Amino acid sequence: MTTAAPPTIAPIPSGLAAIGSADAPFRPALRVAELAPGRMARVTFDDLDVLLAHTTDGIVAIDDRCPHMSAPLSIGLLEGCLVDCPLHNGQFDLRTGDATRMPTTGGLDADGTYHPVWTPEGKDPKPDPPGIKAEARRLTRVRRLRYYPVRVVGDSIEVAIPGE
Ligand code: FES
Repeated sequence: MTTAAPPTIAPIPSGLAAIGSADAPFRPALRVAELAPGRMARVTFDDLDVLLAHTTDGIVAIDDRCPHMSAPLSIGLLEGCLVDCPLHNGQFDLRTGDATRMPTTGGLDADGTYHPVWTPEGKDPKPDPPGIKAEARRLTRVRRLRYYPVRVVGDSIEVAIPGE
């Protein structure tokens, strides 16, 4: 009888480990069979919701909160290493932690670059609307993702969670 090789764990992009996660204890999250390649799942530890994603580069664990306005990425779409947010169509590369498509609301990217509100193809760019809500969208910064260390022990996927 042959045993299946354990799944790959994707490396954490440089500088994007969640605060306190380097020395945190590992906690069981899911069984390997519950996270097939291409699948995502939310796992909650106390009040922390973590997204586990089985990408083509391996398994990653990040906050299950879009870095735009905190929507749960776990109910978005995963294709390869790219996850699409279900709320404003932002897209993020789980290999790098960067936004690969700005949300339709526009706003600031991680380095402060301004992106206007999305406009349908072939239409004139929309002018910035007035009002406090529009200003809030303009000033909302899409930050980079934060990662938690992952390991596989036997048939269990474990995540290092700070604060225990
Ligand atoms: S909350 Fe995800 S793109 Fe806006």
